[in-house]
Amino acid sequence: ADFWILLHHNLPSYKLLPPIIFYYLFITNPLLSKTSHIEQEQYQYIKTKNMTKNKKEVNIETRKGSTMDEWPEPIVRVQSLAESNLSSLPDRYIKPASQRPTTIEEAPAATNIPIIDLEGLFLEDGSPDEAIMAQISEACREWGFFQVLNHGVRPELMDAARENWREFFHLPVNEKETHRNSPKTYEGYGSRLGVEKGAILDWSDYYFLHLLPPHLKDFNKWPSFPPTIREVIDEYGKEVVNLCGRIMKVLSLNLGLKEEKFQDAFGGENIGACLRVNYYPKCPRPELALGLSSHSDPGGMTILLPDDQVFGLQVRKNDMWITVKPHPHAFIVNIGDQIQILSNSAYKSVEHRVIVNSEKERVSLAFFYNPKSDIPIQPLQELVSTHNPPLYPPMTFDQYRLFIRTQGPQGKSHVESHVSPR
Ligand code: OGA
Ligand code: NI
Repeated sequence: ADFWILLHHNLPSYKLLPPIIFYYLFITNPLLSKTSHIEQEQYQYIKTKNMTKNKKEVNIETRKGSTMDEWPEPIVRVQSLAESNLSSLPDRYIKPASQRPTTIEEAPAATNIPIIDLEGLFLEDGSPDEAIMAQISEACREWGFFQVLNHGVRPELMDAARENWREFFHLPVNEKETHRNSPKTYEGYGSRLGVEKGAILDWSDYYFLHLLPPHLKDFNKWPSFPPTIREVIDEYGKEVVNLCGRIMKVLSLNLGLKEEKFQDAFGGENIGACLRVNYYPKCPRPELALGLSSHSDPGGMTILLPDDQVFGLQVRKNDMWITVKPHPHAFIVNIGDQIQILSNSAYKSVEHRVIVNSEKERVSLAFFYNPKSDIPIQPLQELVSTHNPPLYPPMTFDQYRLFIRTQGPQGKSHVESHVSPR
């Protein structure tokens, strides 16, 4: 089937690499950047055809004046559907048989992602504990996912963050509509990822906001109810950013690099941080739907605060889906595509998805720690050689994240197709 990738024209610039690679590789193109100043609201649509596994033919078509200001269809809040006590699931949420929760065999119930206790990770003298580092190394290479305990974020703050958001989502839908988002920035209250008309949707609503860089942090774009929510998000964000900084050091050291290496490659102080809070209402036919379709996270690293009461996150391991059993007050850490790219695939950005149920709603907070959005991200020089050539060409995160923002969650197809020509 055809589908569209929208490229915002006021990106610095880009160029499409030859189609023999795959269908979406972009690098700097000075010609296009000239036109981008003329019409700010103009988008470039890239129509990709023949979505066969290894050969993708690319057509580029410009639609002057088109914008991504609005969703392709009227938005329906999943909360409204859940509250109307439907006996059946609307067609828009029925996944094709191959994507339904039960199609792939599930791992034995007790299987879980690694759980790592960070207590004592950084010893008095500042040197990290080797046994803990080794566990993190293995988890990043083999799983792309792990839970952390004694991570330094106060348990009360974690509970306050989740419960403030739960209260927000319990507001009547129309009181949240003032924050409705658009595909232009995704900031605010949303109910879909991707702008493909007619797409099968996920059974969730969400809220998306920026914490960093400072110029993107805008309290007016944050909820104001419950009254404590802004303060709680702010404090939570700061503590989680600190945790990310510590983990970034370990990721660097574990690859034999200077501890600041990953942070520097992310743009040092100028990293991005944003929060997506997911609200998964009860679903009348959970066996036919997904709360969030399979995807890998496009950013650097994700720190997920799951619902303490309700399972839902599943992580792909080989050909099985493993349901994460959250440890009380643990965070779930996962590697995103940008760290897979920087590490030249030593660390894995792993597919995951969310299942829903008919008994209980679920709230989760996904905190995304991202590189500065306009610097090129590519495998670190220290990690490549003639025997181990760079697997990915440079691309900024601004460019990279357009894919999930237009196509919605599509497994690992993006990072897997973002490979260098051979
Ligand atoms: C995400 C995500 C998992 C969850 O928001 O990217 O994977 O458990 N969330 O909600
Ligand atoms: Ni995710």
